[in-house]
Amino acid sequence: MSTQNRIDKLKKLIQQHNINYYVNDNPQISDYEYDILLKELQDLEKKYPTLITIDSPTQRVGSEPLSSFIQIKHSIPLLSLANAMNEEEIILFYNRIKKGLNNNANIEYICEPKIDGVAVELVYENGIFSYGSTRGNGEIGEDITSNLRTIKSIPLKLSNTFDIPTLLEVRGEVFINHKDFNNMNKIRLKENNQPFANPRNSAAGSLRQLDSSVTAQRPLKIFCYAPGMINGMELISQEQFLNLLPKWGLPVNPLVEKCSTLDQIISYYNKIDSLRNSLEYDIDGIVIKVNSFHNQKILGERSKSPRWAIAGKLKPQQTTSVINNIEISVGRTGAITPVAKVEPVYLSGVTISNITLHNQDEINKKDIRIGDTVLIERAGDVIPKIVKVIIEKREHNNSIYNLPKNCPICNRKIYHNSKEAIVRCKNTNCKAQIKGSIEHYVSKNCMNIDGFGGKLVDQLVENNILNNVSDIYRLSHEILSNLNKMGDKSANNIISEIEKSKKTTLSKFITSLGIRHVGENTSKILEKNYNNDINGLINAELDDLLKLDEIGEVVAKSIISYFNNSKNKTIIRQCIDAGISFESQHIDNILNNEIFVVTGSLQKFSRNDIKLFIENRGGKLKSSISRNTNYLIFGENPGSKLKKARDLKIKVLTEKEFLNYMEEKND
Ligand code: IVH
Repeated sequence: MSTQNRIDKLKKLIQQHNINYYVNDNPQISDYEYDILLKELQDLEKKYPTLITIDSPTQRVGSEPLSSFIQIKHSIPLLSLANAMNEEEIILFYNRIKKGLNNNANIEYICEPKIDGVAVELVYENGIFSYGSTRGNGEIGEDITSNLRTIKSIPLKLSNTFDIPTLLEVRGEVFINHKDFNNMNKIRLKENNQPFANPRNSAAGSLRQLDSSVTAQRPLKIFCYAPGMINGMELISQEQFLNLLPKWGLPVNPLVEKCSTLDQIISYYNKIDSLRNSLEYDIDGIVIKVNSFHNQKILGERSKSPRWAIAGKLKPQQTTSVINNIEISVGRTGAITPVAKVEPVYLSGVTISNITLHNQDEINKKDIRIGDTVLIERAGDVIPKIVKVIIEKREHNNSIYNLPKNCPICNRKIYHNSKEAIVRCKNTNCKAQIKGSIEHYVSKNCMNIDGFGGKLVDQLVENNILNNVSDIYRLSHEILSNLNKMGDKSANNIISEIEKSKKTTLSKFITSLGIRHVGENTSKILEKNYNNDINGLINAELDDLLKLDEIGEVVAKSIISYFNNSKNKTIIRQCIDAGISFESQHIDNILNNEIFVVTGSLQKFSRNDIKLFIENRGGKLKSSISRNTNYLIFGENPGSKLKKARDLKIKVLTEKEFLNYMEEKND
């Protein structure tokens, strides 16, 4: 067998095993055997790189991290769904549809679970996964192609290739299973990383990674449920569409059902409600869709949602538990938050043991006391809350709870500003604040000092070795290796991570300082306007800051007050003296905001490479042609975009012509 043939065979085999595993939930070989096939393909491709194609299963993680996402205009907007909050509202929907279709008695509906994940759109051009995006605002999403390519249940090439549309846009929900979510959090805790709050947030965060190798490590899955634009194939119903998807290798939720009567719809609603707790993933309702595309068209759409579908919401999941204690947490800004420590309970996929009580007002309003049995809810998804106390179960000696008058950490009197519900410890030397600010400083999106976990910070602050962030730079191998449980090697690692982290950007450094109201975004704005000149920023006047786009009064005042504090200025000076330096994010601007679109496959660039190439030279790469497009670059098998560009008289370039054009610009 020739190498080419073997590679083709391996690609087909691996693709089929992916479908068996992810779509049919019926693996035919062990993970080990699968890895052997993949390794063989990887080895062959390494030896013969010219035989690598974009749809090869080895190409799921590629290219360099992105600097930002480009925007993609959806060819058909992704609408949202109107809600039916209960059975009565489902009946109203059913009657509306009947009326809208001239009292037709034989209307079919497709009922589906409403997956609580992140909506995405996948685009297949001639069966090849070409790009994918987030829903965004429904009209414009973000290009997350490289991240989607890492999800193994998304085929890079549709199977059954003789029976596929030339263009297939398919929408679906990316999610994480409860079991995978809990495992992932266990690992994160072990590695001193902050655990994710819930499966949906972690799926959303994973899809918005600029570095797709991070996404590749997250156990993301997908269920597909709706068509976007489809060319080259006539489809007549949702049922037909959902039946075709698995044939192409795209996963569909197994609980989809066709219903023809109101009774059937209501029993589906109740069935899914009762199954909810036993499902491996989060759902927050059902979706009822009119089956026939013809009928969907007659019913039409409102501005934001179709008339032919509705989401039947399920009641938030609730359970009860007992409050064992109320503990006080002191944040890095001194905010004092009471937290109920409850007997751990499992609720829709996560174990709950801490519930924030926000502030004294909330405690008073609900009359929450230690020892009480409480009703707990995770509304839809997010943070658990206490709905109410179950008074019947209250023991007579549970006494009214009041926040302490003094900070539980430093004993300073707690300050209460009557305009705020939250109370604060205003002692900036409070150990809780020092720890919080150091943990923030070393965290991933800030100075990113790897290995500098919460336990280490605790020890160093408790032993008065660290009093502020600049003390980090005074740490020596000797100090570290004398700590509890710290070996020679770990101490060396930490010292070298501290050294490494000194090369940073001004925006990361500003974020690290933890100035109130100044997060990553504001820091980037400041970096751009102060051109790496930290002294310029320190000496800025209120009016200078207010002149900057996107910086309002609250933020500007907070920055000024931070830099007016001489202690803060000293700490910054000490950090700079310790060798922190700011790299400039140099971007060439020879393309001067020119807008490019690419179609077909290029020889020298992957989609991501060309995007970076253009963006790093100050141009923009968009996914669809519009009148604003300056150039269309086309490669092999160009799609309909080439014709569209010619129709709109937009300049078209072959890859070679594009490279020549770049050379001319460089001259
Ligand atoms: S259909 C016009 N089907 O719900 C059709 N959506 O509020 C709209 N969702 O953004 C989508 N499971 O993220 C549809 N089986 C399903 C769904 C589903 C979850 C989400 C999707 C969408 C939101 C609509």
